[in-house]
Amino acid sequence: MKAIILSGGKGTRLRPLTYSGAKQLVPIANKPILFYCIENIIQAGIKEVGMIIAPETGQEIKSTVGDGSAWGIKIHYICQDVPGGLAHAIRTAREFLADSSFVMYLGDNLIGAGIGKFVDEFNRNRPEALILLKEVDNPKQFGVADVSDSGKVMRLIEKPEVPPSNLALVGIYIFSPRIHDAIEVIKPSKRGELEITDAIQELINMGCNVESFILDMWWLDTGKKDDLLTANAIVLDEWLKGDISGTVDSESRLLGRVAVGRNSIITGSTIRGPVVIGENTVVENSFIGPHTSIGSNVRIIKSSVEHSVIMNESELRDIERLEESLVGRRVKIVENRKTHRALRLMLGDDSVVEV
Ligand code: TTP
Repeated sequence: MKAIILSGGKGTRLRPLTYSGAKQLVPIANKPILFYCIENIIQAGIKEVGMIIAPETGQEIKSTVGDGSAWGIKIHYICQDVPGGLAHAIRTAREFLADSSFVMYLGDNLIGAGIGKFVDEFNRNRPEALILLKEVDNPKQFGVADVSDSGKVMRLIEKPEVPPSNLALVGIYIFSPRIHDAIEVIKPSKRGELEITDAIQELINMGCNVESFILDMWWLDTGKKDDLLTANAIVLDEWLKGDISGTVDSESRLLGRVAVGRNSIITGSTIRGPVVIGENTVVENSFIGPHTSIGSNVRIIKSSVEHSVIMNESELRDIERLEESLVGRRVKIVENRKTHRALRLMLGDDSVVEV
């Protein structure tokens, strides 16, 4: 069994962050989303991974992830020249996949555990495809499956007006090589992409066995800001271990699980976990509230922040209250309204500011 991780795409919903970086490298609890995907795949014993990258962000992914030796696996990089859809990504990886069955894992999806039991299920029954499903409250916003009592997939519908079930397609799939035949048949959709839902529907039409597995753990698609903050909160809640490697002065109070990285200095501040703080970061006379991840080389001075992700080398100064925010790298947010109440901004394209 091989795996491909899809780390290309446009990332329009996470602009402006995705103008300057890959969305799959945005940190959740100070670790790139992509690393969680790799670890979940390794848990199934898979050692050959094809990483689909885009020309614009591929180099950053390569230099951050490396050749896989850090995890004891082999990572091959496969450049998809245009973001032509999930089925197009499989077609691009055709040579790497050869005649192997494979896992397709979307590089911006997070689930609560490894995928070993799904791979075992696939190996037991040997369907042509095994798709992961999750019960959701708002199926109209997802690809939805119509499933028989025995778990056989009868039909897939993208964002249905009248959903046949509340079972949404999770971004993790396992395929036999028959999927390549189906991809050869399908045509680009209205949005110009080769859709994986169309390819799976084609498998069903060809009379192939497509099975499903209903996920009993959390699943989050981190492609949008609010989902990303929710993912950050859940990962901090479930997986963060308290660990103080930096310095915390006697005026500061740490409550709950807090991790402070090497050479970071906390003075005169209250930190209410779960909170993770990277290396070489300074927190001075501030409050850091629950579900916050602060990167490395960050400065937080006389400010209050909670339920947020603050990435490396950013600075907050005299900010009364920042919450539910996603702050990129090298961002400066400073209070400067002492004499008159005006906002002075320099924002990249597609920035969102709520004042
Ligand atoms: P999406 O989030 O569906 O698409 P996108 O990355 O283009 O984002 P947006 O809708 O905000 O513009 O993609 C899911 C994952 O698959 C993501 O990690 C990117 C990746 N992907 C590819 O690698 N190649 C592709 O052609 C597409 C469409 C996505």
